[in-house]
Amino acid sequence: MGKREGDGGLKNLKRPKIVVSPPGPKAKAFIERDQAVTSPSLTRTAPLVGVEEEGVWVKDIDGNIFLDFSSGIAVTNVGHKHPQVVEAIKRQAEKLIFVNSCDFYTLPQVELMEKLCELTPGKFKKRVFLGNSGTEAVECALKIAQWQTRNYYVIAFIGGFHGRTMGSLALTTTSVSARRHFKGMMQGVYHVPYAYCYRCPFKQEYPSCGLACVEFIEEIILKKVVPPDDVACMVVEPIQGAGGYIVPPDDYLPALAKICKRNNIIFVVDEVQTGFCRTGKWWASDHVGIEPDVMVVSKAIAAGLPCGAAIARAELMDWDPNAHENTLGGNPIICEAALAVLDILKKEKLDQNAAKVGGYLLKRFKELAESHESIGDVRGRGMMIGIEFVEDRRTKKPAKDFRNALMEEAFKNGLILLGAGVSSLRLAPPLILTEEQADVGFEIFEESLKRVEKDR
Ligand SMILES: Cc1ncc(COP(=O)(O)O)c(C=O)c1O
Repeated sequence: MGKREGDGGLKNLKRPKIVVSPPGPKAKAFIERDQAVTSPSLTRTAPLVGVEEEGVWVKDIDGNIFLDFSSGIAVTNVGHKHPQVVEAIKRQAEKLIFVNSCDFYTLPQVELMEKLCELTPGKFKKRVFLGNSGTEAVECALKIAQWQTRNYYVIAFIGGFHGRTMGSLALTTTSVSARRHFKGMMQGVYHVPYAYCYRCPFKQEYPSCGLACVEFIEEIILKKVVPPDDVACMVVEPIQGAGGYIVPPDDYLPALAKICKRNNIIFVVDEVQTGFCRTGKWWASDHVGIEPDVMVVSKAIAAGLPCGAAIARAELMDWDPNAHENTLGGNPIICEAALAVLDILKKEKLDQNAAKVGGYLLKRFKELAESHESIGDVRGRGMMIGIEFVEDRRTKKPAKDFRNALMEEAFKNGLILLGAGVSSLRLAPPLILTEEQADVGFEIFEESLKRVEKDR
């Protein structure tokens, strides 16, 4: 194969390298081509036209090299283009690219499902359905719940993000722009407030609130709005992702699990963004000792290849043949890549690195907030850190334009950041990030923040 634009090693880099202010001329030309044919529904945070990647670095078409604090939304947990993943893909591609997994069997598929059963919380017997994305995993969970209970009401959370197909979209409430005009989405979803303590919908403070948001579900929703026996499932993110990296108090998820148990409601935990060591443990659920009835995962599972899975208590996935299947789920190349990811996470102890370096970063950002009024809140777990910007700390008015300007400035200086919620940034670097690299990212962030504050 001939050399492509951007080929060359990035391994030994210490800092980002900006050779032409992004977007450079090649990126501009490419983006023009893209805009002519792409669905404009894609948000496109920054004019990054990636051509090469390695570890924590991404190189663009003009030769700029960026430090990635996004991991493509918590996907490249093991680092970009990990050699073991590349090797696994190549090895499998030379043996067998595809036989469909609904009619036939492949070796990597069963091995991956066994590993997922073993690694996810709960020692009970489980079954797995493999799909192609997070949203498909959520659809599977919804179908399991309907099949099992013959009910279809669902409890979901305001600010939650679960995908964009008509079932998962019905749960998603990060913003009305994702929902506008889609009147055919799944019916029967009741949205309740999440434990977003920085902006408590009940205007209370934790812990004196006594988890008023949980009480609201049991005392109001299940007593006045929908009878518990009509509810099929509750679907919750253990940390809200697109909603703003919102970490609930430790007793919140166990309290939700208890409501579900008491009322025979299937407890579905969406670990699409939090899973695979992102939070400093294998699952965000592990921090608070919950064992979901169904867990949905995707994103980091196969280092960027399309894959999603619903892992359920075996007795919940006892549906009939043909009740649910797909064509491309369980693709052997993707399963091999996923098996490599699981092996790397374990071997390189990336849960521990996420906890250590993520904890270090969180501390630095909390210290930074002390001297920057524009930062309203800093929160996080492991390498999942949210920073929320406000116009005024007292009124907490969201500073969305400021957040966007900071993202743009940081990008110009070689740091990739992503937004979340109304005015937050989400930091989700690859979990291989070292303390030195964390410092480099932090310094670019601080410099960019100072510049944007000056222009305010
Ligand atoms: C928590 C969560 N669930 C589900 C999804 C949907 O995943 P996908 O974009 O792969 O459909 C996302 C995507 O961001 C997510 O963050």
